Order: sequence, then structure tokens, then C-alpha cells
Amino acid sequence: MGNVTVIGAQWGDEGKGKIVDWLASRADAVVRFQGGHNAGHTLVVGETTYKLSLLPSGIVTGTLSIIGNGVVLDPWHLKEEIAKLEAQGVRVDADNFAIADSCALILPLHRDLDGLRETAAGTGKIGTTGRGIGPAYEDKVGRRAIRVCDLAHLDALSPQLDRLCAHHDALRAGFGQPPVDRAALLAELRDIAPTVLAYAQPVWKRLKKVRKAGARILFEGAQGVLLDVDHGTYPFVTSSNTVSGTAAAGSGLGPASTGFVLGIVKAYTTRVGSGPFPTELADATGQRLGERGREFGTVTGRKRRCGWFDAVLVRQSCAISGVTGIALTKLDVLDGFDQVRICTGYRLRGKILDYLPAHAADQAAVEPIYEEMDGWQGTTAGARSWADLPAQAIKYIQRVQELIETPVALVSTSPEREDTILVRDPFDD
Ligand code: IMP
Repeated sequence: MGNVTVIGAQWGDEGKGKIVDWLASRADAVVRFQGGHNAGHTLVVGETTYKLSLLPSGIVTGTLSIIGNGVVLDPWHLKEEIAKLEAQGVRVDADNFAIADSCALILPLHRDLDGLRETAAGTGKIGTTGRGIGPAYEDKVGRRAIRVCDLAHLDALSPQLDRLCAHHDALRAGFGQPPVDRAALLAELRDIAPTVLAYAQPVWKRLKKVRKAGARILFEGAQGVLLDVDHGTYPFVTSSNTVSGTAAAGSGLGPASTGFVLGIVKAYTTRVGSGPFPTELADATGQRLGERGREFGTVTGRKRRCGWFDAVLVRQSCAISGVTGIALTKLDVLDGFDQVRICTGYRLRGKILDYLPAHAADQAAVEPIYEEMDGWQGTTAGARSWADLPAQAIKYIQRVQELIETPVALVSTSPEREDTILVRDPFDD
């Protein structure tokens, strides 16, 4: 019995929610290890819908939920998310929830900068979630972040605030903005500190104990490999490493602890925000995928761009992230198409490529090479075994598996937990 790391293998929004819920209900601890409240996750338990952005999914079922050091934490958002959950009857206390004391904080000045930059960039904007994620990671790496542990030492914060504000004041001046109101920031930090400190601890120690007791740990990734700051479609990426390897560094457990890597893969492709997207369909087919798949962002409500399945990208993501097996989601969105297409390679200035090149201009210029297959007229929605699937849908899954060189561990056929074809249980691997 091992641990499981779940990551998105495309540009996020692969349908991690349902898979993570199912795994979280069987885990003893759930750990977020990167990103922040740019993630969006809707949980439906019985009649109740819970919306999570920052808290790990285990929180709803009372499973030990941990925010690892790799996450950037907005303390005011945290307070709001906890209050909403508590109003829905969810218990959040120091027994079932912990935050790494070394987490870097997202401050109002980060949100400001995120917005100022995006506005100034005009059509060249990244299309961020506007939550200050990038600027907060910059300050962390720039060694001027305010961290969770600093909230216990606010009287000694002056030199750090000087460094941080000097940096931001210079940037703000460039945008014609007034300097940071230091007194107001300090007062806000004083006000919020007790909320965060109630859960703060060296979570690596807690995880070490959990691990020693033989508990099952679920590492819950956010976004997707193609948004990874090193491996994604740079600069149209998020500011963290979204690959499976981050589960170790972002939580304080070694790489041997991260276990089965489950890559979540949507049966077609979507992307929210700007950046290259080789198989994007700006036509009626793209529209149909978006409508059938209800492709609107959970955090920002933005319409997602849609296109055919890109096996080149997913093969690359699976290799980079060491994916053990995939969960294929939203297959039913392809129901009823006469023909379906899969991208098997790219053409770039007369050359054939079997990978996505690193340079942004090349990424924008690659043309997809498609393989066409017959679609299926029956429905895959709600299927719970291979026997429930139309023969052509099985052929599609097999072709996907072959092209991405990674086996299918499960197929999800509706938002309902039971509507899943389980080939290989990641926890039993
Ligand atoms: P940021 O993470 O807010 O800086 O946004 C950077 C890019 O990542 C933008 O294209 C966002 O749309 C995208 N992004 C961030 N979080 C998510 C997510 O949870 N799902 C899908 N895209 C995301």
C-alpha cells in the first residue's frame, strides 16, 4: 500500500476534483505542495457543494489536510475559505489541518502587482488568475518574502518589511502607483496572524510521523504540467513547478514517499488564459466541446479554449512527471461526434517533431498532424465497466494509451464518484 501523487497532465482543469475526492476519501492525509488559491475545486458530497481553492480536498471529510511549504498562502483568503466551510458544517481545527510554518505569504501588494502588470501588458498579458501568485513566488525566490513563521515575530519584522517595500515601491513607482502603506500592512498582518498561527507548524515533522505510522498520503497537485514554470509553455505558465517531483520538495518528504504518480488527462484539450495551444479549435467543434464539457474556469469564470486531444503534449507531460498511470476524464464530451481527431505530431517549418519545442515562437508556430478515427454514437456517460462502452470509444482509449506511452489506470465517465472504470487502484500499487 503506497502513497499517491495526483497531477494535471495538460493545462489544468483536467477534472482532478472528482479523482482527488475519491482518493482523499481513502487517504489518511492530503497534502497540497505548490500553487495557491489560483486552483479551483468543486466538491459535491451528497446534496452539498463545497468550493475549495486553497485548502486540501481532505478537509471536507475530516481527513488530515496539510498545506506544504511549496504553497504560497494568502492569509485573508484562508480565513474566508475556512469561514465558508465552517458555515457549511465542516470542522477545521489544529487536529485536522496544518500549514507549513515556512510557507511564503501572498500579500495585498502581490495582488496589486499582478493586476498592474497584466493591465500594462495589454494583448501580451499572461491571463493570470489575478491572485498575486507570480509576484509572491518572485519574492520567495528573491529572499524577501514574509513567511508564516514571521507572523509570530511581527515586532521584529521591520528590516524584512524595509527590504520588501523598497522593492515594491520601486516597481509601483514605475506604474505610477503610491508606495506601500507599511503601517496599514503591518496592522493587517497583526490582525490576521492568530488565524494562521493556529495551524502553523513544521509540517515535515507531522508528515514524518504520519509516514512512520504507515498512513496513506495523497499529494494533491494543482494546475497542470504544461503550466509548469520550467516545463510548460513559458512564459504563459504559472510560477510554480507543477510536476510530480514538487510533491517532495513542496512538502518536506523525500522523493521515495511520493508513490504512484497519477496523471489526470482530459479526453480532449482545454486551456484558460493566453499562450500557445496547437490543437485549439476556433470553430463550431471547439464551441461544441466547450458547451458539452461546461468549460468555464472555476476561479475566474473565464471561458476555456478547447481543442482536440494532443498526444504529443500528454506524452511529454507523462515523461517529465514520471506518470505511473493516467486517469482519463470527460470521455462523454466526445460522445456523438462522427469523427474524432488526435494530434500525433507537429510540423514546424517543414520539419516533423514528436515533442513541443521550448521556444515560445516555435510553440506558437507548430502545426498539428492529426490522426482521424471514427467516433461513437452510443453514450459513454455513466459507464462503470469496459462492457458499458461503445467499441469505438474503447479503441479511442487504447489509441490514446499507445500514443502517450502510459497506461490508463482509470476512466472517469461522469462527475459521479461511482461512474468510474477502475483498471488499477493507485493506492494498491
Ligand atoms: P497564475 O497562476 O494566476 O499566475 O496564472 C498563470 C497561468 O496559469 C494563467 O494562464 C492561468 O489561467 C493559469 N492557471 C493558474 N491556475 C490555474 C488552474 O487552477 N487551472 C487552470 N489554469 C490555471
